[in-house]
Amino acid sequence: MREGTLWIGAAGIPYRYGADCADAIGAAIEELRPSSAVLVLDKAAEAHAGPLLERLRIPVQPFVIDPNEEHKRLSLVEAVLDAAVEGGADRASVVLAMGGGLVGNTAGLAASLLFRGVRLVHLPTTPVAAFDAVLSLKQGVNLASGKNLGGAYLAPSLIACDLAWLATMPRSGLLTGVAEMAKNVLAVRPDREGDFLGALAALETRPIDAFDALFSLGLDAKAPFLHDDPHERGGALVFEYGHTVGHALEAASAGTMGHGEAVAWGMLAAAEASAQLGLLDADGLDRHYRLLAHLRLPPARTALGRFDRDALAARLAVDNKRGHLPSPPGVNPMVLLRRLGEPVRGDDGRPLIPVPTETALDAFEKVAATEVM
Ligand SMILES: NC(=O)c1ccc[n+]([C@@H]2O[C@H](COP(=O)([O-])OP(=O)(O)OC[C@H]3O[C@@H](n4cnc5c(N)ncnc54)[C@H](O)[C@@H]3O)[C@@H](O)[C@H]2O)c1
Repeated sequence: MREGTLWIGAAGIPYRYGADCADAIGAAIEELRPSSAVLVLDKAAEAHAGPLLERLRIPVQPFVIDPNEEHKRLSLVEAVLDAAVEGGADRASVVLAMGGGLVGNTAGLAASLLFRGVRLVHLPTTPVAAFDAVLSLKQGVNLASGKNLGGAYLAPSLIACDLAWLATMPRSGLLTGVAEMAKNVLAVRPDREGDFLGALAALETRPIDAFDALFSLGLDAKAPFLHDDPHERGGALVFEYGHTVGHALEAASAGTMGHGEAVAWGMLAAAEASAQLGLLDADGLDRHYRLLAHLRLPPARTALGRFDRDALAARLAVDNKRGHLPSPPGVNPMVLLRRLGEPVRGDDGRPLIPVPTETALDAFEKVAATEVM
């Protein structure tokens, strides 16, 4: 089992990642000495919860969520809070968030609000949650006006994962976690490219080893940034790489393109924009195409041909990074790279620079016209 402490600012968060380790996870939860647990449980992870529930000796009150971004709203948080209080939760209770990133974010916000804050334990069951989303203080839900806009910061008291839980994810869900780890290689840790490709090759035959390697990549890439930038408003913005054009594609696709695929295309567009601005050389650009070819994306012309420039421009005009920099119309703050692992820094030292929206759109069109092999 991998165990240690993740420092996010001043918060030291214990983590335990292993395989077939429900007993160890149960023991780690009970070490927190909670009076009871509110288990916010992903419907798809119900079967995984059984061994852990058998092990826990505290009263556990389950609240099952069938995850859907449309329902990731304050009303869902309120329903969790009411059920928790009606079921007897008190200030010494703990909220267990067992599921994907949606359940983690929703339960995390509920924990920050219940009695003005109770302890939170993340039990991630998807690759995105296990390698990325739980390594953060950010908890939040969607508003009618945009994604993840209502939220709070809360440090979990424990992050624990049985990697066997992830093995039931379908390929589309795996791709999202894998794309985020490809981002970590390209934007932060190009020295880990070999580990990443080794993990991809092992996904079908030795999934637990592959998950363990991907978690290690997620942790090693993020930890140094989170230590110094707990609210992810400074150096940790580098993890937004690929998420400008990526978010625009995801939104314009109206649910037909998954987050992982959108971020992968978004990274290629960011690399093309970096090259067009004379920041990234041909080798850096080529390494993007070669690494992302391992994700086995659909052909670019088929996947991207259906997006028109105006629709993407409209989405880019409401990108959520615009608040980080003064962004007049026609300009988008973006993470661009000078070299793999080396983002271009703005005047304030953060890895975010103003990019003409036209440059981002030209870069997207270049990607759409290139075969990724
Ligand atoms: N820093 C952060 O807070 C952060 C970072 C990344 C993503 N997120 C958020 O996380 C969410 C995306 O997370 P996600 O990709 O985990 O998606 P998700 O939580 O929507 O889960 C995806 C699907 O997988 C199912 N599932 C969960 N565990 C499973 C298992 N073990 N086997 C089979 N199916 C399983 C779920 O029921 C759901 O249908 C978004 O809401 C996003 O905003 C937050």
